[in-house]
Amino acid sequence: MPMIRECIVTTINAEGKVHIAPLGLIADPLADGGEGWIIAPFKPSTTLDNLRATPFAVANFTDDVLVFAGCLTGNKDWPTRASTHVPGAVLEGALAHAELAVDHVEEDEQRPRFHCRVAHEATHAPFKGFNRAQVAVIEAAILASRLHMLPREKIERELAYLQIAVEKTAGPREHEAWRLLVEKIEDHYKHASPE
Ligand SMILES: Cc1cc2nc3c(=O)[nH]c(=O)nc-3n(C[C@H](O)[C@H](O)[C@H](O)COP(=O)(O)O)c2cc1C
Repeated sequence: MPMIRECIVTTINAEGKVHIAPLGLIADPLADGGEGWIIAPFKPSTTLDNLRATPFAVANFTDDVLVFAGCLTGNKDWPTRASTHVPGAVLEGALAHAELAVDHVEEDEQRPRFHCRVAHEATHAPFKGFNRAQVAVIEAAILASRLHMLPREKIERELAYLQIAVEKTAGPREHEAWRLLVEKIEDHYKHASPE
């Protein structure tokens, strides 16, 4: 399996409106030894529509897990500024970002793959080390984005395990991100028919 990096992907539509979504970028080494990434959005999605309209994206690398949790719970309103080498937007507060240009598309019924090359990269702030609660929030965010695909028992079992890291190591933003995700998941099951 190739390496995947979880990041916040920004894309723009034909009118230049910015869209923000957490996505996993799949490492895709280029023939010339350069760095390439695959963006693989499921159908249907705004990210997919935007990549067809404007074949560029920005991969924002951030340790602010509140952005991941916010995007999945209805708050996609995070500050951005214009990117410099491709049309698009950089997430304010990202530790680093990569500006991507779509090279070619591998079509697929469920999940087309947009092969991208890196047009520009920049670092803005230091990485301050791993935090287990941040990792737990990312895992919980993935569970929260797949509530319709995964069995309830698996989601509840994994959340119970991930909660240990949150209780032991979270700061305020991680606690808030965790709270938003747990609320979304509980809400989903409150309204779901009994299994
Ligand atoms: C860490 C993380 C990684 C994700 N990776 C993907 C991905 O690779 N492809 C995808 O379609 N959705 C992925 N998702 C779910 C999307 O963020 C979510 O479905 C989002 O709403 C995309 O749809 P949109 O472009 O319409 O907003 C991921 C979610 C999380 C939390």
